[in-house]
Amino acid sequence: MRARILLVISGGIAAYKCLELIRRGRERGLAFRCVTTRAAEQFVTPLALAALSGEKVYRELFSLVDETEIGHIRLSREADLVVVAPATADLLARMANGLADDLASTLLLATDRPVLVAPAMNPRMWEHPATRRNVERLRADGVRFVGPEPGDMACGEEGVGRMAEPATILEAIEGLLAEIRGEARLGGVRVLVTSGPTREPLDPVRFFSNRSSGRQGHAIAAAFARAGARVTLVSGPVCLPDPPGVHTVHVETAREMLDACLAALPVEVAVCAAAVSDWRPAHAAAEKIKKRPGLPPPAIELAENPDILATLSGLSEGRPRLVVGFAAETERVVDNAREKLARKGCDLILANDVSPETGVLGGERNRIVVVERDGRVEPWPELSKEEVARRIVDLVAARLGMGA
Ligand code: C5P
Repeated sequence: MRARILLVISGGIAAYKCLELIRRGRERGLAFRCVTTRAAEQFVTPLALAALSGEKVYRELFSLVDETEIGHIRLSREADLVVVAPATADLLARMANGLADDLASTLLLATDRPVLVAPAMNPRMWEHPATRRNVERLRADGVRFVGPEPGDMACGEEGVGRMAEPATILEAIEGLLAEIRGEARLGGVRVLVTSGPTREPLDPVRFFSNRSSGRQGHAIAAAFARAGARVTLVSGPVCLPDPPGVHTVHVETAREMLDACLAALPVEVAVCAAAVSDWRPAHAAAEKIKKRPGLPPPAIELAENPDILATLSGLSEGRPRLVVGFAAETERVVDNAREKLARKGCDLILANDVSPETGVLGGERNRIVVVERDGRVEPWPELSKEEVARRIVDLVAARLGMGA
């Protein structure tokens, strides 16, 4: 039977993406019944929603017609899953506080079904302590989140606040439906993901680091969690929120990252997406290094950092069944990746071209070539980092014999 989604749409510019969510969702066998807030109708018309969903759109709390057709309590419970997309800061606040002053908030208070929300708002609003409090409270109440994601906003600002893409929301819906049915694809599989840069101190205020944003690693951790895996994310310093449903460990240096990874074992799968500094200053000064007028700048001696990917791949005891590495290259991408796979002893390498003109480092998209142990090479088209993450989950699931 078609899974039934009660889709609550609140008023944000991202509301237009709901049309694609419904269209794509129906193609994948989901049935949608839409509820709009008054503000939502400034961005998407009930007519368009009704046409695409093939169902009446519910709008008013006090509608005699609707109440005789289907009471609002029944409406809230006839679905398998309630999805709020986009969820504005205002609706999250009302949900967190149990308000019931319109049809959308009343349904959300009355429902006994799992609730998935896809927030969309200005980055300052998302970062505001009031929103943080509301999100924490909702998480504690068992509400699940997908996104928001970093990127350019319609308001011209940059930061975290963009609604997750329809494909990502659909994946979260499918993951949650599978979980409800007790059949999450990677249910119980333990996954370790490293993400972000490391920071290697030179003195208490200076460090060596790199331009990694952590977007790819965080997207991978989130995608594994949506597939039901038990994920530990070991992250260097990044400007991203911890992904929902993921145990996140924050570290600074490569050596701390290695320790955190070893502490996270045993796992079945390790994905090393962090851009670990290869070297660190051999001696981190205890005090800030001072300028010495008339003397040359200090010489910095470097020491080699541990290679986390090689260490995990080479474990004689407790080696993950599958160790996946990345190879960020600026030239001879496949050749270098093959050489890296052999040298590090991992099972798969996802090679990407990070020459500055590709905009991959810190950017939103990625172009990957999968290089396998047996020499097979599979180039992927240019994809968003979220889509890359989904494909990695598929790849890993297939290798573990747990494909869809
Ligand atoms: O040698 P290179 O840095 O190009 O290798 C990249 C791969 O190795 C990535 O998967 C990265 O996460 C991992 N790596 C690591 N520890 C290091 C260096 C790289 O885990 N010290």
